[in-house]
Amino acid sequence: MIEFILNDKIIRTNANKSMTLVDFIRENRNLKGTKIVCREGDCGACTVMVGELSANQSSVKYHTITSCISSLANAHGQHIVTVEGLNLANKLNQVQQSLKDNYASQCGFCTPGFVVAMANYCLNDNADNEQQMLDAISGNICRCTGYVAIINAAKELVENCREQGKKYTLEQLIKHNFIPKYFASIKNNLKKIQSDYQRSGEKIIAGGTDLYVQQADTLLQTPNLRYITLEQGQPIIIENDTCSISGLATVTDLFENQELQNRIPHLQDFLRLLSSEAIRNMATVAGNFVNASPIGDMSAIFLALDATLLISHKDKNREVKLKNFFIDYKKIDLKENESIAKLWFKLPTKNSHFNFEKVSKRKHLDIATVNTAIHIEVKDNKIVHCDLSVGGVAAIPKFLNKTVDFLIDKEINNDTVKQAIDVMNTEITPISDVRGTAEYKRLLANQLLKAHFIKLFPKSILFDAT
Ligand SMILES: Cc1cc2nc3c(=O)[nH]c(=O)nc-3n(C[C@H](O)[C@H](O)[C@H](O)COP(=O)(O)OP(=O)(O)OC[C@H]3O[C@@H](n4cnc5c(N)ncnc54)[C@H](O)[C@@H]3O)c2cc1C
Ligand code: FES
Ligand code: FES
Repeated sequence: MIEFILNDKIIRTNANKSMTLVDFIRENRNLKGTKIVCREGDCGACTVMVGELSANQSSVKYHTITSCISSLANAHGQHIVTVEGLNLANKLNQVQQSLKDNYASQCGFCTPGFVVAMANYCLNDNADNEQQMLDAISGNICRCTGYVAIINAAKELVENCREQGKKYTLEQLIKHNFIPKYFASIKNNLKKIQSDYQRSGEKIIAGGTDLYVQQADTLLQTPNLRYITLEQGQPIIIENDTCSISGLATVTDLFENQELQNRIPHLQDFLRLLSSEAIRNMATVAGNFVNASPIGDMSAIFLALDATLLISHKDKNREVKLKNFFIDYKKIDLKENESIAKLWFKLPTKNSHFNFEKVSKRKHLDIATVNTAIHIEVKDNKIVHCDLSVGGVAAIPKFLNKTVDFLIDKEINNDTVKQAIDVMNTEITPISDVRGTAEYKRLLANQLLKAHFIKLFPKSILFDAT
């Protein structure tokens, strides 16, 4: 049985666990405020809030998801808030009011998604500036109002949900009409829900952001599914120079980890290039590897961090280097019933540098045409260690073995980079497809290798425009 709180009501249901949450909300509960447009996680019309008890059960932490590609099962033990759950008894809440005051709604189809995403910003302790508000609505598309009015409303809210420099607490948000009163009782009600969900099946569903886009109907008929986000585990552990990441960790877990950001400067800028905040809240790192897309951003990043995977089945564990995990197009070193329990890698040191580059048809909310990451250690202007990956130019996310071998012991200068590009060209095999011709992708890979060096070593590298 799945048990969770939907707005102010406890739900206990034996409905098909793999149905999408949006279908349960709209068809089973008749709450039609949550809209469906793309059913692929791309537009944000179906955005709902998910509240989870913090580890010490002292508060409820909220984030957004797109409910069209999330399973009903993943709602277990949580507080799901739809646009109806934000309504006040006799007046508009502050988020609705702000959208109204700024003329930020026209046909209104996208509006419930924006209301939920903006309200979530107000509730989210980790968000307290305009950039974070823009992140919060980054996955919401409006096709008629125009974004200026919506962004004006959003900016107004950033100011209005704080007092004397401090973000409103839950109690203040209730008092100032941002959210209804019942939010105050959610923490205690969540504690009463049986959060121990018996794992059953073997076929893994994590965030569902790949599976539900491709196989939503098939999943409805698939018995024996294992919803791993319901399992417990600390997502990220940093000890000395090693970072270990659980198979359950989401992209947002990486995004919010302060120590990881200290060790990998610009990490948040890199991760912002992976879809929207709502998708990052669901998408797991392990799911990105197993999907094995040649342009997976997590694959490119963790190849360049030379990650090792711990692969498990029951009591048996084995270790596989990520660079050996990808065998051929969508063929990976993972047997039926095995799962990625965790991965780990050595963190960049003060002598080493990390960079990630991605070119897509649109800068944001798009998958890569070509992506690449590098982790490079330099002493006395000589390269002493390098790991380098590139995606979109081969059947797999590619670790560039030959280019790395070439770079070791070389000085950082223009000639080294030019020669490295020649070596790279011998080990990539781009093909033409909807994202670009083979020649274009080769050119991109070449330019992005230059971009790594220009960004990381601006004093040593000076390319002319050719
Ligand atoms: C709108 C949208 C935008 C996107 N944009 C990007 C983007 O910019 N860049 C990008 O790289 N990707 C993007 N993706 C793809 C997707 O979000 C990622 O690949 C994500 O990391 C997949 O993780 P998940 O947890 O959702 O996987 P799921 O869909 O749950 O699972 C994917 C596969 O991995 C398997 N799996 C999951 N976890 C494990 C585990 N621990 N052990 C073994 N097998 C496992 C599942 O069985 C399944 O086969 C986007 C997706 C959407 C819907
Ligand atoms: S309907 Fe478009 S994101 Fe869900
Ligand atoms: S108001 Fe019409 S799509 Fe946004």
